[in-house]
Amino acid sequence: MTEKTYVIKTERLGLRNWQKSDIIPFTNMCADPKVMEQFPSTLSAPETKELITRLSNHFNEYGYTYFAIDLLENNEFIGFAGIKNQTWQSEYTPCVDIGWRLKQSAWGKGFATEAAQGCLKEAFSKFGIKEVLSFATNTNTPSENVMKKIGMEYIGTVQHPAIIDDPRFEHCLVYRSKL
Ligand SMILES: CC(C)(COP(=O)(O)OP(=O)(O)OC[C@H]1O[C@@H](n2cnc3c(N)ncnc32)[C@H](O)[C@@H]1OP(=O)(O)O)[C@@H](O)C(=O)NCCC(=O)NCCS
Repeated sequence: MTEKTYVIKTERLGLRNWQKSDIIPFTNMCADPKVMEQFPSTLSAPETKELITRLSNHFNEYGYTYFAIDLLENNEFIGFAGIKNQTWQSEYTPCVDIGWRLKQSAWGKGFATEAAQGCLKEAFSKFGIKEVLSFATNTNTPSENVMKKIGMEYIGTVQHPAIIDDPRFEHCLVYRSKL
């Protein structure tokens, strides 16, 4: 098996650009209603493929993205975590945000927090970013917990302009970490 190129490595995880072999497991993950509970809907296979293309293009342009994550011990793809430029209109954007999405079998093991810690550190030291925000619906306690565990502070709420027909997105939580 060829050695993968990881942009960020943590104790248990390797974070990298997306590759073809991610399409099937990521499609299964994004079709899981439990994984997508805090989003407007699950994603179809073409939508997931399009998301991978966008994330990969972002990586090629900026050197960072929401990275695909492998477990180092067995190369298993478990989801994504990373940083990404956000340009949707609000009082908090444009900005760089940090986000995460894991398949259910990888929940409850500290992987999201471990990956997010690695990304936040590299955002400041490797990518020269001065401030990172994070957004979540105010019902997404697991995600808010990750924000708190990596030391981000709550700074307010925002209505996501692209998702106006879902009340959960009226008061999205905004957390911040500054260099
Ligand atoms: C948000 C999400 C990534 C959080 O995943 P998670 O596994 O709960 O988060 P963590 O990595 O912080 O793991 C925390 C749990 O692992 C446990 N854990 C087990 N082993 C651990 C270890 N070695 N180190 C740290 N924590 C460990 C912790 O006790 C904690 O459990 P608790 O919350 O019951 O106390 C996950 O719920 C998810 O993918 N949700 C769907 C997508 C989503 O909503 N994304 C965010 C959109 S804003």
